[in-house]
Amino acid sequence: MKDYNRILVTAALPYANGPVHIGHLAGCYLPADIYVRYQRAQKRDVKFIGGSDEHGVPITIRAMKEGITPQQVVDKYHAMIKESFEEMGISFDIYSRTSHAIHHQTASDFFRKLYDDGLFEEKETEQYYDEKAKTFLADRYIVGTCPICGNPNAYGDQCERCGSSLSPEILVNPRSTLSDAVPVKRKTKHWYFPLQQYENWLKEWILEGHKEWKNNVYGQCKSWLDNGLQSRAMTRDSNWGIKVPLPDAEGKVLYVWFDAPIGYISATKELTEQWADYWCKEDTKLVHFIGKDNIVFHCIIFPAMLKAHGKFVLPDNVPANEFLNIEGDKVSTSRNWAVWVHDYVKDFPGCVDTLRYVLCANAPETKDNDFTWKEFQERNNSELVAIFGNFVNRTFVLMHKLCNGKVPPLHNEILDDFDKSLIEEIGSSKDKVESLIEQYKFREALFEVIDLSRKGNKYLQDKEPWKKVPGGEAKSISPEDQKQIDNCLHLCLQLTANLAILINPFLPTTARKMLHLMKVVDKMLEWSNAGKLKLLSVGYSLRPPELLFRKIEDTEITAQVEKLKAGLIVPNAENGSKTPAMQTAEKEENENKAAPEKSQIQYDDFAKLDLRVGTILSAEKVEKADKLLKLQIDMGSEKRTVVSGIALHFKPEEILGRQVIVVANLAPRKMRGIESNGMILMAEDKEGKLIFVHPQEQIEPGSKVS
Ligand code: 2FM
Ligand code: ZN
Repeated sequence: MKDYNRILVTAALPYANGPVHIGHLAGCYLPADIYVRYQRAQKRDVKFIGGSDEHGVPITIRAMKEGITPQQVVDKYHAMIKESFEEMGISFDIYSRTSHAIHHQTASDFFRKLYDDGLFEEKETEQYYDEKAKTFLADRYIVGTCPICGNPNAYGDQCERCGSSLSPEILVNPRSTLSDAVPVKRKTKHWYFPLQQYENWLKEWILEGHKEWKNNVYGQCKSWLDNGLQSRAMTRDSNWGIKVPLPDAEGKVLYVWFDAPIGYISATKELTEQWADYWCKEDTKLVHFIGKDNIVFHCIIFPAMLKAHGKFVLPDNVPANEFLNIEGDKVSTSRNWAVWVHDYVKDFPGCVDTLRYVLCANAPETKDNDFTWKEFQERNNSELVAIFGNFVNRTFVLMHKLCNGKVPPLHNEILDDFDKSLIEEIGSSKDKVESLIEQYKFREALFEVIDLSRKGNKYLQDKEPWKKVPGGEAKSISPEDQKQIDNCLHLCLQLTANLAILINPFLPTTARKMLHLMKVVDKMLEWSNAGKLKLLSVGYSLRPPELLFRKIEDTEITAQVEKLKAGLIVPNAENGSKTPAMQTAEKEENENKAAPEKSQIQYDDFAKLDLRVGTILSAEKVEKADKLLKLQIDMGSEKRTVVSGIALHFKPEEILGRQVIVVANLAPRKMRGIESNGMILMAEDKEGKLIFVHPQEQIEPGSKVS
């Protein structure tokens, strides 16, 4: 292994086009934070770089759907994301933004250097163009059927169902996400980076030189390299992003995946004048924490760019995690199937470490994993509360009861086998946890720590110091028994101090609560103190016990599961043609405007409505549209077909014969291929339940309402 003198840790720059959810945390931010906190405790020179990715199609699409500018989008979400990270204790040394001038300059210079070295291919190719929206359609501006899995809504750059990396040309039945138009091909010029020229070097560097990378990462790289690399366009037609720094490049910007990883360099520049030590000296250990969808960019494209540039170090490791599902289903921001971090911190104040614990204990390190609220509760109640918290609490309660609230002495001459084996465990746990963290095996490392606290409980159970207290009328504790008690509580307290050091990278708030109980300062948490037995001085008086964790109740869990289900957006005939971004934007918009007041109208406007009483003759579900019912309505002189979005509220058979008010002169509209002629009026209560608006008494169908 190489000797490193400094460590540079990056965590993927999230797109500033939405808030962060727990999948993001579990994917890369939490593991990166654990790693960095551990390195800081080792007193190593480490910098933790993060920031928002503010360019690219994800931003412009979001802006279009929300009806605001891209700048407003990134301002809004950058602030939200930054706050969520702070609340979760993700301890970046800098959390920057790719919209900063320093980044524009750094990325432009990088591009210019490759250009000046003659490394780009300048190519005019035919690309999809939306004639209605008058724009080229790269990446996510285009959707179509995935040629690999058949997903009808795959993006031009990636299929979210099967994870394949795509390009617009291979989509079947492509259509524009802007206008739904079928795109045409048009010529456009771009600058391509010839990845194939780096293929042999990449094979050597990764497949031979980095066999220690995680299997999921190594495997994905191997498959890309085995399939052969091709030139990739590093510019796009767009007006949002970093302008291509060339004279003949009007309307062209750098590809977001060209500029974003350079953001790590720009942010380091912002952080420290010594940035070049971190980026250019061979004795830097560069580690990129990412999710699995970013592997190709961080292991192949960015390293090839760095290599081509020539001035920068390459990553030593890219410990990518797989995905975290929620309650058995893939996280989907568009369907709102996610646990949002800003919601969590509101709903569970003071429980940041519980979420950190569960996400680490269940981290998708080697395969996709599932987050369930039930497991969240169980891990909190039966591991954090019942094992770790319980050990610390028992120790403090007993120390106050049996040792006057002070650290008792250790009587070496009477150490028994239980004491000796606990001392050994304390000594060896440091190396175990350390080695696992260094190998990016954070789950196992965390389990080691919990296991050590479990051993503490077992030790207390074996020693039973409370039994040495004479009950009832008995006299005081014998000096021999007091020595036994002293030894037991002394070791339990030293173990508590060790647990604080070992848990600190994972649960920093808990570690600080423990410091408070022990009345010691942060310095004790230095890693070199782990394994030691003399962290707390004999005779030192400690604070009374305070619980480290609280129990999570069933009602809290039920409420979260219900919240998740209630928030789900089901694609149907009404929103099916809209992009996921649009649906989310719309949903948020609706949430913000709970009961909008409409502007005033004149009587003439009202008089345009032809409202009539109708009677429902038949009702049936519309195929593949969860919300829709097809109704036949008797309007007196005629029978009408009306498609209505009430299927989640009423069963078809429940509503037969009901009288309703129909907007009879509404222009016909096709929904799921069925022509709807009119609309029925419904009232909605606070919970969102629908109630029919109808005449109080039966009346002839077709009667006028005015
Ligand atoms: O997948 C994403 O969310 C990207 N914004 C990650 C970029 S990582 C780095 F390259 F900046
Ligand atoms: Zn697919």
